[in-house]
Amino acid sequence: MPAMKVLHVAAEVFPLIKTGGLADVVAALPVALAEQGADVRLLLPGYPMVLDAVQGVRTVIDIGACFGALRVRLLLARMPGTGLQVYVIDAPYLYRRSGGPYQAQDGEEWADNLQRFALLGWVAAHLAGGEVDSQWAPQIVHAHDWHAAMACAYVAEHPSRTAATVFTVHNLAFQGLFPMTDWNLLGLSSRWMSPQGLEYHGQLSFMKAGLQCADKVTTVSPSYAREIATHDYGCGLDGVIRGRGADVVGILNGIDEALWNPATDPAIATRYDAERLAGKRECRRALQAELGLALDDDALLITVVSRLSAQKGLDLVLAALPELLRDGRVQLAVQGTGEPALEAAFRMAQAAQPGRVQVRIGYDESRAHRLIAGADAIAVPSRFEPCGLTQLYGLRYGTLPIVRHVGGLADTVTDGVTGFAFDAATPAAFERAVQRALDTRGCGDGAWARMVGAAMAAHFGWDGPASGYMGLYQGALARRG
Ligand code: ADP
Ligand code: GLC
Repeated sequence: MPAMKVLHVAAEVFPLIKTGGLADVVAALPVALAEQGADVRLLLPGYPMVLDAVQGVRTVIDIGACFGALRVRLLLARMPGTGLQVYVIDAPYLYRRSGGPYQAQDGEEWADNLQRFALLGWVAAHLAGGEVDSQWAPQIVHAHDWHAAMACAYVAEHPSRTAATVFTVHNLAFQGLFPMTDWNLLGLSSRWMSPQGLEYHGQLSFMKAGLQCADKVTTVSPSYAREIATHDYGCGLDGVIRGRGADVVGILNGIDEALWNPATDPAIATRYDAERLAGKRECRRALQAELGLALDDDALLITVVSRLSAQKGLDLVLAALPELLRDGRVQLAVQGTGEPALEAAFRMAQAAQPGRVQVRIGYDESRAHRLIAGADAIAVPSRFEPCGLTQLYGLRYGTLPIVRHVGGLADTVTDGVTGFAFDAATPAAFERAVQRALDTRGCGDGAWARMVGAAMAAHFGWDGPASGYMGLYQGALARRG
């Protein structure tokens, strides 16, 4: 049987361009699918960092003028490292600019995001229609988050539709909303211009294009799949999710176990594994020295590596901090960027007690590895968390997660066995979870070491999730006939 042809469509991929876990997933999942026999390619916008990094570039087709850009070309290249084939849309007017993938340096959304991400979906649909590359056309178009969601609408509209579409929600809170007056820029039939289509309370929603038009909708953990069907977590779209019934499934993310491996990690001070934990203690001391924390062997060193946003619940950490620091048994090492108020509050916490709290505002991949290797625990107190990857990195590095019992955190951390979970989104509940970690570490009966062993033995690779997606693709294709 010929290999199933699958196109992954996304706005970011590690290590070329990354704002969060989406990039990690888009880098690793296609490779895992290829290992299971699929013929997988990626489709990305041609941001400068993508054009600079990809290898062996050739032009597939000159598309010409569309979506307000005079010159659009589709390139085919290889990803550095994995060699995965990647289509890149070179549209200088839309993508070749400095700043982030969604926002300018000052945090303002790009004014032409509708055109930038409609083009991404439109090219995907034309690839699936077989009009773009005479050598290759996907049977499955797998779109990630709102940025790629229009692929599902354009495939549904395509006159010679054969491909099946899968839409993965990584975060329902980011929806890609635009003024309804921009509708005519999309070139879609007006049958989608209603609440049963893309309209969301008088606005135009790319997220809804994915949720309504895809053959199958997935999200990145079973718990989050259940949660987004409820009013509390549905971000106004719970009715749409419920309407899709059994077409919405949760498939837990994996992690790249080669990249995140304390036994081989080139970024950390000393490599270690579950049998050689002395290395972890050395990583801990090296981290304290690197950051300027007091060289204290007894403190519970907690790290946070995170976007600083309301989602992540880090205000709970800040509110609990004075109490946690009171008797000198806790140290905190934070790395993150995001909301200015949270950045400022963490900076102030460092200024008050630099020996106990160190904060690095910024993004540093290599330091993230050292923080996770060197800390005793990693705090992920999210208000909601579709999957979460840093708690999985923590487990692999024997750094026990202290997590809120929600979404993917609830699906990956077993309270009292591989980490510490708490329910209420309150500083007091977080504080009690930290207290339990302190008690476990201090009790001297080997309980902490047993938990570290259990955490390091828990595997969250991509094999299982990739099999899950393969089954889903087969089901979606069978239904297409
Ligand atoms: P989200 O995608 O919601 O931000 P995840 O836990 O899924 O959360 O993924 C976050 C990813 O981004 C992880 O790979 C994490 O290590 C990384 N990350 C987040 N903030 C930083 C930072 N300041 N420096 C380095 N890596 C970071
Ligand atoms: C999103 C979610 C996060 C998830 C990641 C990758 O950014 O916030 O929970 O791990 O996507 O799926």
